[in-house]
Amino acid sequence: MNEARIAVVGAGQIGRRHIEEISKNPGATISAIVDPMQGAAALARRVGRPLYDTLEACITADRPDGVVLATPNRLHVPQGLACIAAGIPVLIEKPLAHDLDEGERLVAAAEKVGARVLVGHHRLYSPLLRRTVEAVRAGILGRIVGVIGSAVFYKPDAYFDGPNTWRREPGAGPLLINMIHEIGNLRAMVGEIAAVQAVASNAVRGFPIEDTVAVTLRFVDGALGTFLLSDTAASARSWEQTSRENDAYPTYPDEDAYTILGTEGSLAVPSLRLKRYAKLESRSWFEPFACDTLPVERADPLAEQITHFVAVIRGEATPLVSARDGLQNLRVVDAIMRAARAGGTVEVPAG
Ligand SMILES: NC(=O)c1ccc[n+]([C@@H]2O[C@H](COP(=O)([O-])OP(=O)(O)OC[C@H]3O[C@@H](n4cnc5c(N)ncnc54)[C@H](O)[C@@H]3O)[C@@H](O)[C@H]2O)c1
Repeated sequence: MNEARIAVVGAGQIGRRHIEEISKNPGATISAIVDPMQGAAALARRVGRPLYDTLEACITADRPDGVVLATPNRLHVPQGLACIAAGIPVLIEKPLAHDLDEGERLVAAAEKVGARVLVGHHRLYSPLLRRTVEAVRAGILGRIVGVIGSAVFYKPDAYFDGPNTWRREPGAGPLLINMIHEIGNLRAMVGEIAAVQAVASNAVRGFPIEDTVAVTLRFVDGALGTFLLSDTAASARSWEQTSRENDAYPTYPDEDAYTILGTEGSLAVPSLRLKRYAKLESRSWFEPFACDTLPVERADPLAEQITHFVAVIRGEATPLVSARDGLQNLRVVDAIMRAARAGGTVEVPAG
């Protein structure tokens, strides 16, 4: 079968990773790059593919089999709608949209015509996450009581400067850029989220967006969770710095991003260190745990996501993370934002 010809729109930080993964994938090839910034020309020359200033020009002249949208959040919906209107399958980077109304608009348009839309929550392809979900579903932790999670790290100051000032603006804060990944993780590991409470601060960076947020979660089946998010904390307690799934980050095997707590045991993720009572009948905090590490075969989730997108383009698979699923992650983040503004508990609308 011919390689799927994929155009990458937005050749920035994550767009370049997609270009690399598509180029390596035996089922895919780059058809074109779309980016109005000067720096993209050298990249297009190196890849040996045409460069367009706009998605529309690319669709008209190149007619790719699929499009990856790796542009700033506010462009996801207009560019996603352009792909849907042209009948081209699209992988939209997370978040699906920069606000909930826009996300609803995109889902309605996609579902109306049965468009193939995949949302870039690539951690869902992580063998570490899959192994965790398997372990929880198999009941090895007993009934799930709660989860403690964190995404606390220090983003370089240049990340917010020069051409990157879009990252200081509402719609591009760490809740929409980073927490949205964690919501995908939490929903997969523990289940649907029913309600949230939150406190947000911008005291350190002083931008119009949050830099640190503390969140309390209630899951549909009654489990509770706490989560601390910060892009200005000199810490390694994040998925990126502990999962060893992205070479761009140094890693710290002594740290974890999550601990999932059950009535029979607890699992640290992504190290997959398991503590379980050997004798359940006498379980107690006075009894020692049997400690183990769950085995897992590693793979690069971003590469796996491209393989899946190729299958979606070919009509051989339905999107693992659909537009509606991406919207549910957005609903939870939106509820966190509202809770942080107004205080109190905010219920999350069901999907
Ligand atoms: N899945 C992940 O782990 C992950 C990681 C980083 C970023 N992201 C997401 O990817 C998106 C991009 O983030 P980034 O960090 O790569 O940003 P970035 O600023 O590094 O890159 C964005 C690129 O889009 C280009 N661009 C701007 N307007 C455009 C237009 N109209 N048409 C085509 N290109 C245009 C810019 O020139 C820039 O090169 C964001 O939505 C972000 O949330 C996802």
